[in-house]
Amino acid sequence: MEQLISLCKRRGFIFQGSEIYGGLAGTWDYGPLGSELKRNIQNAWWNMFITSREDMYGIDAAILMNQNVWKASGHVAGFSDPLVEDIVTQKRYRADHVLEEHNIDPKGMSIEMMSKAIADHKLKSIDGNAFGEVRTFNMMFQTNIGAIQDGTSVSYLRPETAQGMFVNFKNVVDSLHPKLPFGLGQIGKAFRNEIAPRDFVFRSREFEQMEIEYFVKEEDWQGRFADWMVAMYAWMDVVGIPRTKVHELEVAPEDLAHYSKRTMDFEFDFPFGRKELYGLAYRTNFDLNNHAAASTVPLYVVDDETSEKIVPHCIEPTFGLDRTILAVLASAYHEEGEGDDKRVVLKLKSNIAPYKVCVSPLLRNKPELVDKARALYSVMKKVFGNVTWDDNGNIGKRYRRQDEIGTPYCITVDFDTLADDTVTVRDRDTANQDRVAIADLENFLKEKFQ
Ligand code: GLY
Repeated sequence: MEQLISLCKRRGFIFQGSEIYGGLAGTWDYGPLGSELKRNIQNAWWNMFITSREDMYGIDAAILMNQNVWKASGHVAGFSDPLVEDIVTQKRYRADHVLEEHNIDPKGMSIEMMSKAIADHKLKSIDGNAFGEVRTFNMMFQTNIGAIQDGTSVSYLRPETAQGMFVNFKNVVDSLHPKLPFGLGQIGKAFRNEIAPRDFVFRSREFEQMEIEYFVKEEDWQGRFADWMVAMYAWMDVVGIPRTKVHELEVAPEDLAHYSKRTMDFEFDFPFGRKELYGLAYRTNFDLNNHAAASTVPLYVVDDETSEKIVPHCIEPTFGLDRTILAVLASAYHEEGEGDDKRVVLKLKSNIAPYKVCVSPLLRNKPELVDKARALYSVMKKVFGNVTWDDNGNIGKRYRRQDEIGTPYCITVDFDTLADDTVTVRDRDTANQDRVAIADLENFLKEKFQ
């Protein structure tokens, strides 16, 4: 994990948020390469789940929403984590994490049971002090809208993108007239005031979600739930998350979120342990019913066959984007070879790699090579977009640098190129080199990228 974090910083993938001011806990900034990787993953997701399907519609809702959304959704009353304080330093901890760290399974425990377990086992904080009682801590960031601050101006940074889709359900039904089953999908920021952000971008206070609310007839929910499980695995293949590192966890009834009747977690073997990567929840018609009741706006679709008004039930596949990036990077990170031959290589799938290709002249002080390589670089950039240029150091060092950031192919223009218009194409994973005619290069690479 340390090596991965160090690579992310050194090569411009991910930086600590507000770093020059000493950082801001639980925030991370994506650098030039991280932004490319992130955008490629977002685009792949949008393409797979929205653009290429007939039954899916995209949404891009506001982050700030009417406070009544969060009352109706149950988040004001129930979106909390168990908090426990060191009685001397007042440092705050997540009670369930404290228990886990002492090999006590907190699953299914109430707040009172956690308090009792901490007291019975005489657990101590990192500073060696006793803990107080466990209490609930609402994780939503509260703010005020406008110049006047009173109860009516309260709003929250959304803790999930899901509600933006539920409150737009009627707008989509009225404007696009979709038939069941259909889904809404959204990619966007969400915010949670985590008591203890940790494990790099795994648990942060500001993060990004890619979520789907898929509306079905109640009697169909089990079949659709199973379909989405298959689709979620197919997604992992698209971004290169090995299925062998993913494990299904059926969430116990007592641990279900307040809106869920069934949740399947997909856990991933992260470098710091097996933790939740994605979730698939059956939210019933909890959200639509609650919003209809609270807003007094009926939320339903009319069944084509029976003309009956149906409040559809909802299957929710939810994907943390930052967790996806972490799982992708952890899966792609390899160290190979020994001594001088040692290399770090990010074996990213080419569809998400920040750069698809690197173009180099063999030597930077030979204008004829540089001019030829520059011309080729312009062409490649037009064709593949994410193409980089590197003329620093010797060719071996350039390959190492590109391996470390996951560039699948390096093209080198050398003296033979001047004679016969061929270039060397070097493969990141095998380190094999092919001699390819410039005229064939586009097709050669397109075939590789399939
Ligand atoms: N919408 C589900 C979640 O944020 O976990």
